[in-house]
Parts: sequence; structure tokens; C-alpha cells
Amino acid sequence: MSRFAEPQDPAFREMNTSLGFDQRLWPHDVAQSRAHAKMLAAQGIIGHEDRDAILSGLDAIEAELRAGTFPFEANDEDIHMAVERRLTEIAGRSGGKVHTARSRNDQVVTDVAMFTRAAARSAQEQLSVFMATVVEAAERHLDWALPGYTHLQRAQPVYLSHHLLAYFWMAARDRERFAAVERACGVMPLGAGALAGVNFDTDRGFVARELGFDSVSPNSIDAVSNRDFILDYLSAAATCATHLSRLGAEIVLWSSSEFGFLILPDAWSSGSSIMPQKKNPDAGELLRGKAPRVVAHLTALHGVIHALPLTYNKDLQEDKEHLFDSVDTLRLCLAAATGMVAGARFDRERMSDAASDELIAATDLADLLVKQGTPFRESHGVIAGLVREAVEGGKSLADVAVPKLGEEARAVLSQSSWLESKASEGGTALARVREQLTAARALLG
Ligand code: ARG
Repeated sequence: MSRFAEPQDPAFREMNTSLGFDQRLWPHDVAQSRAHAKMLAAQGIIGHEDRDAILSGLDAIEAELRAGTFPFEANDEDIHMAVERRLTEIAGRSGGKVHTARSRNDQVVTDVAMFTRAAARSAQEQLSVFMATVVEAAERHLDWALPGYTHLQRAQPVYLSHHLLAYFWMAARDRERFAAVERACGVMPLGAGALAGVNFDTDRGFVARELGFDSVSPNSIDAVSNRDFILDYLSAAATCATHLSRLGAEIVLWSSSEFGFLILPDAWSSGSSIMPQKKNPDAGELLRGKAPRVVAHLTALHGVIHALPLTYNKDLQEDKEHLFDSVDTLRLCLAAATGMVAGARFDRERMSDAASDELIAATDLADLLVKQGTPFRESHGVIAGLVREAVEGGKSLADVAVPKLGEEARAVLSQSSWLESKASEGGTALARVREQLTAARALLG
């Protein structure tokens, strides 16, 4: 029997069905049903024969899903209904008992929490690989000078190791965020029922232990309404993808002939359909281009949840595609970032030429006056005047500065001193970069 006399409008059916995208939750759905059936039998809510029929039916279903032979039907609205329908076909009336003391409302959010926890773990693993790759690249280019930029104008020289390690620290913070996401996914919603709890003496702790959750949700209403852990994942993913977009942007710039700082490995480059000479940094461009899509998924899910009355509403079905697309996008972005950092060939000479422009040492010259007793603001003005004189007169900064400031100015204007004088904590001097590398290695464990 059904509550409905009329069939669903085909357009409504298409709108309402989530099977097309929630199929990928099946490993969690099957695992959840196994744990639930074991608990129901242990509590005497279903018989042991029912449990055994359910468990072997789930084994058969798992095999079908794995092999791609699972017989989906037009009426299967989502993966939960498809699995339960098939279980009843295989296990008969026992199969019809698996949904005792459970609702799709607590079932779906439990599957999604398990999925998100796995995604948060693999993001941490991928980030660890990326971080190790960055550290290795930094070690290979420890004392290679290049300009550091502000406003994309040459600002002060730095070592390439120092610049690369900036991405290490971003990734380290990202990894922390994903660890927090993993913790947020550790509270099991299952057992909340539709919203109010269930009419059976269930053992939620048993199910939580079976499924590897840390605890059970303390409030059934919150449990079926909660999607915070997805927001947390999307937020961590958005920040991480945004970090990678900055790396992508620098790869695009640095691999251009104008910069010429690096050559990308062929494995991460593509050609042009018309210009035979081209080697394009598409992967770097895609790191730039994909980040806003993850940010948009975060914003969209905030929109879905905003002002949503408690408890479950079908709006919440819209959580999944934002999550899934973000997980897939981030996985590719992290792989691309790692591949490009590992394989990039840097051009030491091009970078060092760009970093040997004396004007880049204007701050160092101003600091020389400060050390001789001039307040910084005044010395800034004095050096700005010298820079202007040099630029307008077509002279080098040394030609203008040495007669006025003495021989010490010449020493300041020699390249290695600009770098090694930045010996403050966290600065680019080699001793400080080595400290960073030690700290970075320690974080990698
Ligand atoms: N496919 C649904 C979703 O993703 C499952 C939960 C359906 N619950 C319900 N009461 N209709 O949210």
C-alpha cells in the first residue's frame, strides 16, 4: 500500500531524486546497516536469524555495488532506499526489519558524517605529502636568491627556500583545520530516529564503536538537523584551495618568459592547438580557477542552512553535491600543487639577476642611516631622494649613494648582505631558514 493515489510528476521525481549523486555513499550506508542490524539483534529487537539474513544480504549487495552490477530501479529515490529495497528482495521479510528504530533522517546524516570524516583524513594525508614536497624543494634551493614582491613590484630579495616554505606554513594550518573537521565528524547522529528518538531500547554506544565514532549526539533534534561538520569541511577546503590558487598564480607568472624563473615538468603542462611553440601552465591556472568554486560551495551551503527551521527539511539533500564536488576538486588541486612543486625546474640565474637590482636594497640603505642615528622616517625620505636622483639621472644607486653616505653604503648594496642581514626571527637569512626547516621537519614527524 502507498499513501498516494497519483504517481509523481516526472519533473518532480527528477528534482527529488538524489540517487545520481548519493550513490557514492554506499560503502558507508552498507557499513551503517551492518552495525545497526547487529545492535538490533544484540538488544533483542530483531531475531538472530533476521540479523544473519540481513548481514548476508548486505554482503551480496556490497558485492553487486562493487562490481557495478547492482540493479538500480527507476523508483529508487536515493541510495538508502535502493539498498533497503534490494535487501528486501534478497533477504525477504528479514530485510524489511533493517530500518527498525531508524529513519532516513538519521541515516543520511550518519553516512555523510562518515564520508566527510574520510575526506578530512585524506585531505590531511595529501597535505602532509604536499608539505614534505615543499620542504624537499626548499632544501634543494636553500640559498637561491630571488626578489620578494609586494604589489608585484620587486621589493626585497629573499631565498627561494624561504618563499617556498611560506606555502608549507599555509598547508600546516590547513592540515590543522582538517584535523578539527575530523573531530567534528566524530559524533554519531544515528539513533536520533526521524527527529525525536526511537521507541526501542537501542544501544547507540555499540553502533558508534562499530563505526568508529567517538561519541553519540546528545540531542536528536540537533542530530538530524546538523550539517556543521560539512560547513567545517567546506570552510577548510575553501581556505586550502585559496592558498593553492596563490601558488598557481605564482607558477603561471614565474613560468612566463617575462619572469623565466621556472620551467614546469611536461607532466603538468599542456600544448596549444594552434601555436606549436607553446607550453602552457594550465594546471597552475586551474589552481587559480578552481578555488572560487570551492568557496562558492561553502557559501551555497550556508544559504541552504540559513533560517532553515528545525529539523530535517529536504533542502538538506542539497548538502551533498557541494560537499562531493569540493572533495573531488580539492583532491585534484592538492595533487597538482604537489606535482608541480616536485617537478619545477628553477632558473637560478634568472632569479638572481632579478634579485640583484640595487634598488631592491633601498630599505637596507635607509636602515644604514638609522643605525647611524637618523630616525627611520627621515632616512626613508633621504633614500627616496637618492633613488629618484639615480633613476632620473640614469645612474646606479651606488654611484649616487656612496659619495653621500660613504663606503659603508657600498657594502650594503652588495647582494649577499641584503639577504643575510635579515636575520630576525622568521626572516630570510640562511640561519633562520634552517630553523624553519627544522621546525617544518618536526611537524612532518
Ligand atoms: N536523500 C535524502 C537526503 O539526502 C535522504 C533523507 C530523506 N529523508 C526524508 N525524510 N525524506 O537528504
